[in-house]
Amino acid sequence: MQAEPFSAIANRIRKAAREIQPEVVNLRREIHRHPELSFQEFRTTAFIKEYLESIAIIPEPQLLETGVVALIRGTAPISSGTRRTVALRADIDALPVQEENAHGFCSQNSGCMHACGHDMHSAMLLGTAKILSAMRDQIKGDVLLIFQPAEEKAPGGAKPMIDAGLLEKYRPAAIFGQHCFPSVPSGSVALCKGPLMAATDEVHITVNGQGGHASAPHKTRDPILASAQIITALQHLVSRLTPPHEPAVLSICSINGGNATNVIPGKVSMSGTMRTMNEELRSILHERLERTVRQVADAFDVKADVEIRTGYPVLSNDPDMTDIAWDAAKEFLGEERVLNSEKLMTAEDFAYFLRECPGTFWQLGTAVDGIGPGNNLHSPGFDPDESALETGVGLMSYLAMRFLER
Ligand code: NI
Repeated sequence: MQAEPFSAIANRIRKAAREIQPEVVNLRREIHRHPELSFQEFRTTAFIKEYLESIAIIPEPQLLETGVVALIRGTAPISSGTRRTVALRADIDALPVQEENAHGFCSQNSGCMHACGHDMHSAMLLGTAKILSAMRDQIKGDVLLIFQPAEEKAPGGAKPMIDAGLLEKYRPAAIFGQHCFPSVPSGSVALCKGPLMAATDEVHITVNGQGGHASAPHKTRDPILASAQIITALQHLVSRLTPPHEPAVLSICSINGGNATNVIPGKVSMSGTMRTMNEELRSILHERLERTVRQVADAFDVKADVEIRTGYPVLSNDPDMTDIAWDAAKEFLGEERVLNSEKLMTAEDFAYFLRECPGTFWQLGTAVDGIGPGNNLHSPGFDPDESALETGVGLMSYLAMRFLER
């Protein structure tokens, strides 16, 4: 069979994405109606499997209790080199948020909502699966579909999937993912080379002193005063230890201790978040945070315990893979619809995949035309523009084929 020129394939994918858009909207709404929290996505997993089977894609053996992996094997002859696999990932879990939208497909699970667009991501990967499975004879390699559970809750679903052998088994040469983004216009995407999203760590500090009568502070070891000094001293981590061109955040967000006007308490506990975009800086700040807390506590004759619970690592996009995705996006969407993305201090466990496999993660614009961004991610009124689904389905399909064509 004569191979089609690539511009013809792009047109075919554009047409297919347009034609299946109503079906993808229905898939998204169905997933939206039945959100499930991290690691509990049993109904969603069954729904995804059932849809894949309906389009003749047999899911691979289950790696975790929830989530789905499937493979589309291309049948086009490969002229040179070895057969390669490209992985496409969507996350499938929802958040403990009570939906406040008024449309007809609102969450039917009280206190649970797809407020981060993972319903959109899942539906788009299903739409992509449908387009690509109908074009197997044009695909020069294999496409691995990863429907990942539990992005929203540490330790996340990506790492357990990798630990269960996902990447070792299928050995993808590249991995791509996308996330709805309400400050990018619908119909556009935004990409970034290198670090895009932050490493996030939880900081927990307990200060133990000796309580007593507030009228006799000299007979106590006051953990409240020590805590105030600790919080103040910690401000130097970002303002004086962090190079000004490196993004970093340290926020102490809770402080608890004492419950009377005339009693100095024995203990104060504090917690907060640290976010960095550079793994080396991350470990320097961890060490200095612990040292600062310990030494200030020492000066105030109290004892402080620090626990840093590490979260997701820095999400860093591979420069070469970002170039490939950037070029594909320009070819497929047109140059004016491909933007530079801003860096974000939020976290994403796609970072674990990118540590093991080159790839890139882009922002899919969902700002509603003429209205603007609307409500933000994780808000009870998050309501992305569904016309973005066609953009996401088309680009995912095109990029997978373009990558394997190279
Ligand atoms: Ni998300």
